[in-house]
Amino acid sequence: MCGIVGYIGEKNAQEIIVGGLRKLEYRGYDSAGVAVLTKDGLSYEKAKGRLAVLEERLEGNALIGNAGIGHTRWATHGKPSDENAHPHTDAKTKFAVVHNGIIENFLEIKEELIAKGYTFVSETDTEVIAHLLADTYNGDIVATAQKVVGRMRGAYALGIMTEHEPDKLVAVRLASPLIVGVGNGESFIGSDIPAMLEHTRDVYILNEGEMAVLTREGVELFDAQSGEKIEREIFHVDWDLVQAEKGGFDSFMLKEIHDQPQAVRETMGARIHPETKKVVMPELKMSEAELKAIDHIYIVACGTSMHAGLVAKDVIEKLVRVPVEVAIASEFRYRDPIYTPNTLVIVISQSGETADTLAALREAKKSGVKVLAVTNVVGSSVAREADEVVFTWAGPEIAVASTKAYTCQVVALYLFALYYAQVKGTQTDAQIAEITEHMLQLPGKIADILKHTEEIRVFAEGIKDVQSLFFIGRGLDYAVTLEGSLKLKEISYIHSEAYAAGELKHGTLALIEDNVPVIALATQPDIFEKMVSNIVEVKARGAHVLGIALEGNTELAKSVDQVITIPETLPILAPVLTVIPLQMLSYYASLARGNDVDKPRNLAKSVTVE
Ligand code: F6R
Repeated sequence: MCGIVGYIGEKNAQEIIVGGLRKLEYRGYDSAGVAVLTKDGLSYEKAKGRLAVLEERLEGNALIGNAGIGHTRWATHGKPSDENAHPHTDAKTKFAVVHNGIIENFLEIKEELIAKGYTFVSETDTEVIAHLLADTYNGDIVATAQKVVGRMRGAYALGIMTEHEPDKLVAVRLASPLIVGVGNGESFIGSDIPAMLEHTRDVYILNEGEMAVLTREGVELFDAQSGEKIEREIFHVDWDLVQAEKGGFDSFMLKEIHDQPQAVRETMGARIHPETKKVVMPELKMSEAELKAIDHIYIVACGTSMHAGLVAKDVIEKLVRVPVEVAIASEFRYRDPIYTPNTLVIVISQSGETADTLAALREAKKSGVKVLAVTNVVGSSVAREADEVVFTWAGPEIAVASTKAYTCQVVALYLFALYYAQVKGTQTDAQIAEITEHMLQLPGKIADILKHTEEIRVFAEGIKDVQSLFFIGRGLDYAVTLEGSLKLKEISYIHSEAYAAGELKHGTLALIEDNVPVIALATQPDIFEKMVSNIVEVKARGAHVLGIALEGNTELAKSVDQVITIPETLPILAPVLTVIPLQMLSYYASLARGNDVDKPRNLAKSVTVE
């Protein structure tokens, strides 16, 4: 995720800002930059690559001044490059802005500004803000920022400064986190607490839609829309640096699990039209005719990404009625697959660097097949080599066990499936809108699930010493059980198996005996009764069954030992919600066994070997 730092005080701003950016390095980034108000006016330096590259450029060319803003960028719109790095400025370098998140309507604003004669030097959505500030400025940067923010839709956090008012910085938060710090004769902006922890522990954590005006004398908070002043008590941070990097959570995994409402919101971002509720995917270069002609899809990926592919298979087949085959990349690459002239290969990779997935992509391209990548990393090998890319915009994932990347992959693939159905006309506008409206509620529902995890914690404590356990489900539920089982294995080291519930009776039931824990997902109404029959089969052999169902289901409780319900949603969307308690189960089980949650044994974040 991008990092924002801002400083206004009496000290060397460049040093404090670069120091703050260094403290945010753990979040991942691909370029960095800093802007400072010097005696010659607003000046900036920015560079693709590590902070060291920026520092090298600043050597002998230091930006001397005591107010400025800085940024580490994790590319979303446009590749990692010097031009796309932040801060962005207007043409006369009077205004500078740093930005996290996504401006959903930036294309519309950009076109308007181009028509007025503004020229753009980057591919970013952020640059529109700098030009819009210049275009709107009326002698008051606070009122101007308010107007500019009123024009923008999306989820973002901003740091703004102008040469016209050198004694002020403005910070705005809409959805993306932003913190302002209060020091002695100095004030700070940070996308995260570590950015300023060395200098102050007194902070305001901005809420959605709030704006902060920073001067050397202190900080004032306002409602960004109404301009009304907000009174808030200062929050005194008593975390150490390591705790602060994890947002106060015990581990990156737990933080990333809790990042999911926001991450999923960003994945949907501009892709669901606010009025029509149709799906828009301007990133796709292939024509509607090409998309319509596709008659067969392979989804190729590894591990968790492959599990996201299994959800997508069911969804695409249901919504578009085109056959989809999911393949493990390490198998697919040596398999001599059968392509039709209109086959599409979809590769899914969080990192975009997984060796097997990349090799499968290259094999497909060698055979002349079109490849669409779903990835989280702009500029990754998979993103560069695929014909088409749909970014997941989950933000960097640091914990080895993938959580938010999975949910965002699933959501990105739903969006692709819906768009595809729209183009092919296999779903009506009303059917599409019904699904997207429910999708927009998913972030809130994930947040609700995360507020009630006590029961799952107790269950996890109870399984910490078992030899083995089973996850069972049918259809979309089965796809999620595979991910739940992988998560549990990789971080708790407890053996588990995910089984298609109807398949148990063909042999594996032999392993079900007294007190074997079974986690049964039962969210799909059309196969609910069949699922209950399978639960009865394991109960009859002594299994202890934890059922997971959609709220309102009163039937499941009659057949299982305990039930956890998740907020009601369309059955087709249930995977985004059912996976959350399973992630929490593996987290708590790992904790109960005293494991290092973020660095499980024998695993790497990015598997770049065959
Ligand atoms: C499990 C996990 C792995 C990855 C797999 C593919 O939590 O993270 O199973 O999903 O190694 O990685 P990517 O998605 O980077 O290709």
